[in-house]
Amino acid sequence: MLQKDIEKILITENQIRDRVKTIGENISKDYADKELVLVSILRGGLIFLADLLRAITIPVTIDFMAISSYGGYAESSGVVQLIKDLGEPVLGKNVLLVEDIIDTGLTLNYLMQSLKAKQPLTLEVCTLLDKSVRRIVDLDLAYKGFDVPDLFVVGYGLDFNQKYRNLPFIGVLREDVIQR
Ligand code: PRP
Repeated sequence: MLQKDIEKILITENQIRDRVKTIGENISKDYADKELVLVSILRGGLIFLADLLRAITIPVTIDFMAISSYGGYAESSGVVQLIKDLGEPVLGKNVLLVEDIIDTGLTLNYLMQSLKAKQPLTLEVCTLLDKSVRRIVDLDLAYKGFDVPDLFVVGYGLDFNQKYRNLPFIGVLREDVIQR
């Protein structure tokens, strides 16, 4: 059982569902009559995107980018590598970057620069979690689900060594599991 490795649940399934619904409603209002593209970052952003997409009631398209930054470990290396670029151009479109968590901001900073170069009409960020205490690069977040403290969180898309993404809640990983 994955759950035995969890110290405590930080954000429950119900809390996530309610918050995602509200963010979806806000996005639907803000982008009404606009051409919106949600850009999700693999792999962690996948689950948030899937739920957020269904909470949005206006026409919307999706695209994906894949990057590598943590290299399988718990600490950010600050080195970001583009593994997969967008499938279609976003020139003149409204792009909303959907992330699971913003930690140091290094990944997001890289992605924003890469996306800006593609000349979208607008470019904003939607993140489920904000670990602002760890921020190195300051960035504007248009939509935010929850603030989280400086603990190693997993679940709802977030991993540790590629595992725990399938937990339906956001939980804190036990210290001995991280050290193992
Ligand atoms: C996570 C997350 C962000 C990034 C945030 O991805 O999805 O992309 O780290 O960290 P930062 O603000 O310190 O740059 P990760 O590299 O763990 O890959 P994953 O999406 O495959 O889980």
